[in-house]
Amino acid sequence: MDEEAKQTAAETPPPRIARPRRIAVLTAGGDAPGMNAAIRSVVRVAGAANIEVLGVQRGFEGLVFGNFIPLPSRAVANMVQRGGTILETSRSDRFRTPDGRARAAENLHYRDTHSLVIIGGDGTLQGARALAEETDIQVMFIPASIDNDVPGSEFSIGFDTAVNTALEAIDRIRDTAFAYERPFFIEVMGRDSGFIALAVAIAGGAEAVIVPEMEVDVNDLIRRIEESQARGKRSQIVVVSEGPRTGGALALANAVNARLGVQARVVVLGHIQRGGSPTARDRLLASRMGAGAVKAIVDGHASSLVAELRGEISFVPLPEVPAKSRQLDTDLLDLVAMLSL
Ligand code: F6P
Repeated sequence: MDEEAKQTAAETPPPRIARPRRIAVLTAGGDAPGMNAAIRSVVRVAGAANIEVLGVQRGFEGLVFGNFIPLPSRAVANMVQRGGTILETSRSDRFRTPDGRARAAENLHYRDTHSLVIIGGDGTLQGARALAEETDIQVMFIPASIDNDVPGSEFSIGFDTAVNTALEAIDRIRDTAFAYERPFFIEVMGRDSGFIALAVAIAGGAEAVIVPEMEVDVNDLIRRIEESQARGKRSQIVVVSEGPRTGGALALANAVNARLGVQARVVVLGHIQRGGSPTARDRLLASRMGAGAVKAIVDGHASSLVAELRGEISFVPLPEVPAKSRQLDTDLLDLVAMLSL
């Protein structure tokens, strides 16, 4: 190659994925408040760029079975404040197989669509990676999970709403706990991850927090409740993440009641935390991430995670997203103990 040709080759940008006429969007896995705001943003921002949007119903299952609907701008009217997901969601066994994923890609090709925005949590991210690796589909992944454990992004859509919902409940429970002088065990969501529990424990002034990332030490918990009583505190709030790793709030309350002869009460907040109108923070995040996903598609980015990092919307190529779920900052567990002194 002569010098001039070498120079031209060096200046030629890498081949870009052609700007699409049509893209698709789906929500998968556990629903999270703000998913609708993200769908709305994808539809409206794509519309402004003259790109049509198809919605895929029931997540990956609908992608495998070809359940597509047109999403014109008016289809997402009055949606920014609605919880759940208008596209519905599912956990799909078929999509877990290479055959299922090949069928999903064919369904997109058949509709002249090669770009897909996937909105979901940590489990859904695994499916998104596999689809991007095995097929030519350009995938933009928007993290949405009340658990906030999607790796590569500091925040996921839905976390802020879930925390505020749980916090509102805890504030109410504190009133009666104080009036009646008794401990309360409050179970929050997060079977595999303690982000919700830790956030509400700090913000709700809990005595202790039990998360799936740490071994449960019942003796230590009992000691802390006794010490709190000895310090003259009228009530104790213990926040517990649900699921087999912690054993749940009921089992812990029973153990404490048996040992201390108290009458601790149990409140399981459950799926209340998954529903409801998203907070302003989640609506904003969803709107910015939806717009970011469309921009990344138009700019021809390789398949990426749309992340919030230090307040900025950033794009992390899917192969560079860490394989492990986002890890809890366990130093903050000590803060719960310190703040309850
Ligand atoms: O992953 C989201 C999440 O809501 C967890 O916080 C919770 O532990 C789990 O899903 C509950 O799953 P399901 O809705 O299948 O009971």
